[in-house]
Amino acid sequence: MKTFGNVVNVFRALLKTHITEGMTVLDATSGNGYDTRFLLDLIGKSGYVFAMDFQEAAIKATAERCSCNGHTPSNLKLICDSHAHLKQYLDSEVLDAAVFNLGYLPGGDKTITTKAESTLAAIDQTLKCLKRGGLMYVLCYIGHPNGEEEYQCLSTKLRLLPQSAFDVMMVDFINQSGKPPIMWVIEKK
Ligand SMILES: C[S@@+](CC[C@H](N)C(=O)[O-])C[C@H]1O[C@@H](n2cnc3c(N)ncnc32)[C@H](O)[C@@H]1O
Repeated sequence: MKTFGNVVNVFRALLKTHITEGMTVLDATSGNGYDTRFLLDLIGKSGYVFAMDFQEAAIKATAERCSCNGHTPSNLKLICDSHAHLKQYLDSEVLDAAVFNLGYLPGGDKTITTKAESTLAAIDQTLKCLKRGGLMYVLCYIGHPNGEEEYQCLSTKLRLLPQSAFDVMMVDFINQSGKPPIMWVIEKK
């Protein structure tokens, strides 16, 4: 039996240990809503989830996955916009956690994917929106055409974050064939 096996399992295991009732969290790439749903279950009725995606189809799928009796929960804010515009929606130091599950919408158009420039802008803004002690999770899929460039740009940026302000960890399944996804976890001190 596997305990982890891939970064998504590690991601979820870490979220379960870190995210508790009442927290305020951001899903910066809501996609089909699986991560948003997972976060909603962890933060309970007293927490709050912001979920962003720039594709209407993704926001619709997220709303459907998270709805209860046909209603979107009152503690879920769905935002159909690029995460590069995040600061228009969030104040500084309000987030306990943020998740970026990068790439394209599964089942959607594979050419519509996260891009290094907007992801970097969104990560910068998210770091400001995190509370001290807050965590950001970034899952990066290196195996698709745009993924390698995005990985290189993010890797360069995250390595240069000042150690006085952030701890940056990387999860990489180094003996798996092909180019398995990796995850960075950034903690704001
Ligand atoms: C791998 S999917 C996310 C999976 C999702 N978290 C889930 O649980 O189903 C990546 C998503 O990022 C979205 N995306 C790409 N660029 C974006 C941007 N600049 N702003 C917001 N969302 C973006 C895509 O539309 C896609 O739905």
